[in-house]
Amino acid sequence: MDNASSTCLDERVMEAMEPYFFDKYAVATSEFGHSMGVESKEGLDGARKSIAENIGASPQEIVFTSGSAESSNLALKGVLSANDGHLIISDIEDFSVLHSARTLEKAGYDVSYLTVDDEGFIDPDDLKEEIRDDTVLVSIQHANQEIGTLQDIKKLAEICKDAGVFFHTDATHTFTRIPLDVNEIPADLITLSAHTIHGPKGIGALYLRDGINIKKQMDGGFQEFDKRGGLENIPGAVGFAKAVELVTKEENDRIKELRDRIIDRVLKEIPDTTLNGAREERIPQNANITFHYVEGESITLHMDMRGVAVSTGSACFSRSLEASHVIMGIGGDHERAHGSVRFSLGRYSTQDDVDYVVDNIKEVVERLREISPLGKE
Ligand SMILES: Cc1ncc(COP(=O)(O)O)c(C=O)c1O
Repeated sequence: MDNASSTCLDERVMEAMEPYFFDKYAVATSEFGHSMGVESKEGLDGARKSIAENIGASPQEIVFTSGSAESSNLALKGVLSANDGHLIISDIEDFSVLHSARTLEKAGYDVSYLTVDDEGFIDPDDLKEEIRDDTVLVSIQHANQEIGTLQDIKKLAEICKDAGVFFHTDATHTFTRIPLDVNEIPADLITLSAHTIHGPKGIGALYLRDGINIKKQMDGGFQEFDKRGGLENIPGAVGFAKAVELVTKEENDRIKELRDRIIDRVLKEIPDTTLNGAREERIPQNANITFHYVEGESITLHMDMRGVAVSTGSACFSRSLEASHVIMGIGGDHERAHGSVRFSLGRYSTQDDVDYVVDNIKEVVERLREISPLGKE
């Protein structure tokens, strides 16, 4: 139930990667020297091509990175340092975007933070108003990592296109789960991840629309069209492509049904619960619910003892010791953030799992409420 943090590698992904650890281990740049290098380059090119195809892009628009965090760092820092100007982000972004923006701010760039409504949506009119003559880049996530709210990314990207501003979106939690075609959605840069869709850790990609000038952030050789130096992670890239290929619409529909079962059962069967994020426009794999008058970390620890991994927006669970900036961003107070629990589903989640989780969380919450110092009175 914590697949948003990371998923289990699919065995078919492991099988696809294996030859690139043992027989085909040469570096891709050796393609001009020996046939082993050619084999590796073919593996890398094939992976790049199938990932590109999934979003309607060309292979040369896909830059492999070590994961989403690096992709978003490259997008924000790379664009701003090559095209000096103003940056706009939302205030519920993942830390990889939020902290990149803060680093740029410290370096002297001007950054604006858009607030969201109580379901986590950006108001397109707010974006229009915030864009200035010197705005260079807008970065708004496709879906939120905690509450799962899905933005109207087409509308936001079109506003940026009309204004002549680059648009980046972090699609870590939507890639392959929600269709995204760069021929329909004029996004210029997109952050993509493998380990959230049963692919390997340590590999991700940045879609970079042809012709956009960015400054390389990782110096090294001329790999990745000279956008990211360092030896390519070929087994990772091959595994990433395999993971992309394995996600189907049927799987996404099934996961969505399980998500709805969690939401419907919890809200109906457990009193004083609030769904965080939008009910309809949310990713299929996420349910985030606040259990009022109890603390998320107590629920999390009790559920762990019952064999269930969930996550919470409670402060004590975050290394920063601050309550979730996302729940606070949608207008929640500390109590709502502390009592929030995220359930995130994946390929191997079943209806039995979901029922076990709801039955157990019901008992746990009931008991905790009996002894809770945050009790209603
Ligand atoms: C929305 C989002 N973007 C980016 C990241 C960073 O991903 P990674 O740490 O896998 O590079 C995460 C991680 O949880 C995330 O949820």
